Amino acid sequence: MCGIVGYVGKEECTQILVDSLRRLEYRGYDSAGIAVFEDDKIKTVKAKGKINEGLVKKLEQTGTLHATSGIGHTRWATHGEPSDINSHPIGNGRVSIVHNGIIENYRELKAFLISKGYGFESETDTETVAKLLDYYYDGDPLEAIARAMNDIEGAYALGIIFREHKNKIFAIRKESPLIVGKGEGESFIASDVTAILEYTRDYYLLEHNEIAVLDESGIKFFDVRGEEIEKEIQTADWDVSAAQKGGYKHFMLKEIHEQPAAIKNTVSPRVKNGLPDFSECGLTEERLRSYENIYIVGCGSAMHAGLVGKALIEKLARMPVVVDIASEFRYRDPLITEKDLVVIISQSGETADTLAALKLAKQVGSDTFAIVNVVGSSIAREADMVMYTNAGPEISVCSTKAYAVQVAFMYLFAFEVAFARGRIDEERCRQLTNELLNIPDTIQKCIDNEAAYQFVASKIMNADSLLYIGRGLDYSLSMEGSLKLKEISYIHSEAYAAGELKHGTISLVTEDTPVIAIATQSALFEKTASNVKEVKSRGAKVVMICAEETAVDASSVDYKVGLPSANELLMPLVTVVPLQMIAYYTAVLRGCDVDMPRNLAKSVTVE
Ligand code: AGP
Ligand code: GLU
Repeated sequence: MCGIVGYVGKEECTQILVDSLRRLEYRGYDSAGIAVFEDDKIKTVKAKGKINEGLVKKLEQTGTLHATSGIGHTRWATHGEPSDINSHPIGNGRVSIVHNGIIENYRELKAFLISKGYGFESETDTETVAKLLDYYYDGDPLEAIARAMNDIEGAYALGIIFREHKNKIFAIRKESPLIVGKGEGESFIASDVTAILEYTRDYYLLEHNEIAVLDESGIKFFDVRGEEIEKEIQTADWDVSAAQKGGYKHFMLKEIHEQPAAIKNTVSPRVKNGLPDFSECGLTEERLRSYENIYIVGCGSAMHAGLVGKALIEKLARMPVVVDIASEFRYRDPLITEKDLVVIISQSGETADTLAALKLAKQVGSDTFAIVNVVGSSIAREADMVMYTNAGPEISVCSTKAYAVQVAFMYLFAFEVAFARGRIDEERCRQLTNELLNIPDTIQKCIDNEAAYQFVASKIMNADSLLYIGRGLDYSLSMEGSLKLKEISYIHSEAYAAGELKHGTISLVTEDTPVIAIATQSALFEKTASNVKEVKSRGAKVVMICAEETAVDASSVDYKVGLPSANELLMPLVTVVPLQMIAYYTAVLRGCDVDMPRNLAKSVTVE
């Protein structure tokens, strides 16, 4: 999610706010704006587009704003396409806010506020927060904030200003990050310390539901009951580059660590009364019952997520699913008809082959449903129906959290299709959905086991070529694991159906061939274990990724990577973490440019 800044002090603040926003540009954004106290009013200038093309040009048209306090924002749209009106700050004359995150119950809040006479100008979830604060405000900002936060569900970091409290900024967070900077006679709020390093290195970490109040006298902290609290100051010894990565060495590692939150932000808002809720895009249960086939189309990791989707939908909904690489789909005259649903998966929403496949499906008359991470992207606009993965900006070229949320979305979609088509009952659907809602905690446990992945990386880093093998869901994951290793460490690898090795490829196996065997599905474990013995007998060094409680044969497995236990059906969301981490640490050991691998681009907008 994107960037928040704020300033209270003695200096003219417009340029400070713009410069601070510029230091958050690395996070990816689609629009920017500021709101300042000028005379006794809140003046807001905001625009779609990059800071220099949008906000700065608008500020030049507006003329100099004379203000010594205000808030600023770079938006990564989740609700409402990038546009001037959907940009932040958002509010009315009394209250103005900047928001990072997702308000999960914004529809209910909006309905309540409309019933109280409020109108809405933007399409954002954020506007409900601004209007709720206005609704509760009766002169006491802390009281208004506490009451509004009590009604809100979801993730947020908020910078808030009230017209009647000139040169004061209020800040509060839940899930989304926010820090409070302390300078000489001035104070700041920011999404991360990068934005303020030029002015100060001293800052406070705002904890969940703490309220910071910044004014000319300094900074105070309160809890939601209005009690003042003391906080310990921190000093950033990071340089700008390290700060941008939140202290992680690479964006890829940061984004792997963001996966639990990204999955929560993607899944939770689409669960209503314990069941999947696809009403936001119009994909009704009646429509799901009407389709004869489902096609899932994408490229790279997006296509790999589709493979997991195929396995889930066919297993649970007993419905035929075809997964296609977009660049193949568009040229093979696919057998799609107007009775089929074509699901398009894309992080960027701009991949040329995937967009072309979508257009082909529409020409044929199939319904098209896009699962995209970038709001307002070409694929999002072209598809008949669209829902967004809320992974936030993915900076590293190598996809991790975007793949994870795409897979998580496939689970929710598979449960919905199976339930709509009467293949699972409400109780089963509720149980599976609940397990999906809880999987982020299991993923976190897996992420914490980094030492094991670093060890495996040290054992494979000098290999010329590796095999990733598995069966069923584990075979789908082996494809993603192989791609990760290739694209960032430049070591060749190949994903192979474990049962297929003996039909030729096993001839490649020597004592110099590491084999990563994924074996999380108990019904297939013995079969995969036999395949492991086959490669072991040819001298391979074997890494087995399986449940921690799985007993492995030490004579055929050199290194076991144990996974925390979860419903086997959901294991792909857990298994992908060691695959990502092994690739990451191997690339680091080989001195590769992890975030910007050679020959690759983040979005392949050419054929
Ligand atoms: C994944 O690590 C790669 N960066 C690449 O395969 C990517 O998944 C593919 O290009 C699809 O991109 P998209 O999701 O933006 O359409
Ligand atoms: N959900 C809000 C919006 O779509 C905030 C997005 C962000 O974090 O930038 O405007």
